[in-house]
Amino acid sequence: MMSISEAMKPEMIGKTVQLHGWVYRIRSSGKLSFIILRDSTNIIQLLASADSLGSDAYRELSSLTVESSLEVTGTVRDDKRAVTGYEVAIKTYRIYQKNEMFPVSKDLGEEFKLDNRHLWLRSREFTAMLKVRSTVFKAFADFYYNENYYQVQAPMMVATATEGGSTLFKVPFFGEEVNLTQSSQFYLETFIFSLERVFTIAPSFRAEKSRTWRHLTEYWHAEMEAAWLNNEDMMKIEERMIEYIVEEVLRNNRPELELLKRDIGVLENIKVPFERIKYSELIKKAQDFGMNLKYGDDLGADEERGIMNHFQKPVFITDYPTSLKAFYHRQNPENPSEILCHDLLAPEGYGEIIGGGERIWEYDELVRRIKESGMNPDDYYWYVDLRKYGSVPHSGFGLGLDRLVMWILHLPDIKEAIPYPRTIRRTKP
Ligand code: 4AD
Repeated sequence: MMSISEAMKPEMIGKTVQLHGWVYRIRSSGKLSFIILRDSTNIIQLLASADSLGSDAYRELSSLTVESSLEVTGTVRDDKRAVTGYEVAIKTYRIYQKNEMFPVSKDLGEEFKLDNRHLWLRSREFTAMLKVRSTVFKAFADFYYNENYYQVQAPMMVATATEGGSTLFKVPFFGEEVNLTQSSQFYLETFIFSLERVFTIAPSFRAEKSRTWRHLTEYWHAEMEAAWLNNEDMMKIEERMIEYIVEEVLRNNRPELELLKRDIGVLENIKVPFERIKYSELIKKAQDFGMNLKYGDDLGADEERGIMNHFQKPVFITDYPTSLKAFYHRQNPENPSEILCHDLLAPEGYGEIIGGGERIWEYDELVRRIKESGMNPDDYYWYVDLRKYGSVPHSGFGLGLDRLVMWILHLPDIKEAIPYPRTIRRTKP
C-alpha cells in the first residue's frame, strides 16, 4: 500500500500502485468516471473506464458517493488536466463502504459545521489546519528540549486558583469540590527547585462567560518556568521560540499554507528581535491611533485588535500596572505600582498569545500580595513554602497554542484552530 503523495512522483509513472482512501469528488461522462481519491496526504484522480473494467464494475464505481471508502490498484500516468497532475487508471478495486450523501460541505453554516465537526474535520481545509497544529505542538517541545529543558506534568484537578476566582470551574470530588486548573504555572514553579528549567503542554480551563473569537473554556496551554532568569531573559527566549515555531511551519507545511491561502510573506518576516513597548507608552500610542484608552485600563480583545492591526510582527508589552494582573507577578522594586511582566501580542489584529514575567520569589512579598488580593496564604501553603527553602529569582510564561495556531494561519475564530472547541455554548461533539 502506498500513500497518494508517494504515488505522485515522476519515477512512479507507468508503475502499478495500490492506494486507499475516500472519494473526494466524482464526475462521470459516458463510459468514463473520474473519481478524486483523498487520503491524509493529498488527492489524486482515478480513472474508471467501462471498456477496461466491464459494465458491472463500471456501474458500481461510477455510483460511488462522496466520502465512500475504497482501495484500488492501477497504473500511474501524468496528466496535466488532472487535479494534481497525475492519474491512476483503475485495474482492480475493493469498496469498503458506499455511504449515503455526506451531510457536510463548505457552504453550510458555521454552527452546522461545528455540530458536525467529527465529520467536517476530514475536509481538506481542516486537515491542513490539523497538520499545522501538529507541527506547532512538536516545534514548541523540540525548541525547549534543544535548550535542555525538561518536560513535566502537573495535575488538572487542583485546589487553588492562579488567575482569579471568576473563571474557575468547580467539579464535585468525593463530597468536596475541586477546580479544573487555570494554568500549570504554580506546579511548574515547584519543579524548578529540582530541574531548574521545565515546560509542559496541557489543557487549561477557564469558565469564560464571554463569547469572543479568541476565548475557549478549555484550551491548550504551553508553559515554561526557569530558575535564575528575569523578565528580559524570558522575552529573549520567547521571541526565539516563536521564530523557531514559525520557521518549522514554513519548512514543513508549505502545501497547507498555500491551501489555506496564508500570506507567506508575513510569516517569513517573523524574525527576532520583537519590539518591546511599555504599557504606559502603549496607552499613548493607542490614543494616537484614536482609541479611547487611559492608563490603568485593561486591554481586551477589541482594544488589542485595534492596536495590533497596526503591526506585522509580534510585540511585547511590558510593565503593566500591578492592579491589572494576578498576585504572583513580581513588582518593580523601583516602582511597585508596576510589575516585571510582559504579554506578547500577535500582529494582524490577533493580540495576546503569551503572558509571562518574573515571579515573586521573596516570602514576605508573596504573603503580603496574597493577602492584598483577598486570599488566605494557608490555601497556598505549598506555593508559599517554595519561598522558605532556598528561594531563587525565577520567571516563566504561558502560551495559548490554539491562539498561536489561529494567528499563524490567519483564521477568523479560535474555534477553527482546535478540533473540538469547548465554549460557554458548546460541549458537543
Ligand atoms: O495570561 P494568562 O491567563 O496567564 C497565565 O495563565 C499564566 N499563569 C501563564 C504562565 O505564566 N505560566 O494565560 C496565558 C495565555 C494567554 O496569553 C492566552 O494565549 C492563553 O493563555 N489563554 C487562552 N486561550 C484560549 N482561551 C482562553 N480562554 C484563554 N485564556 C488564556
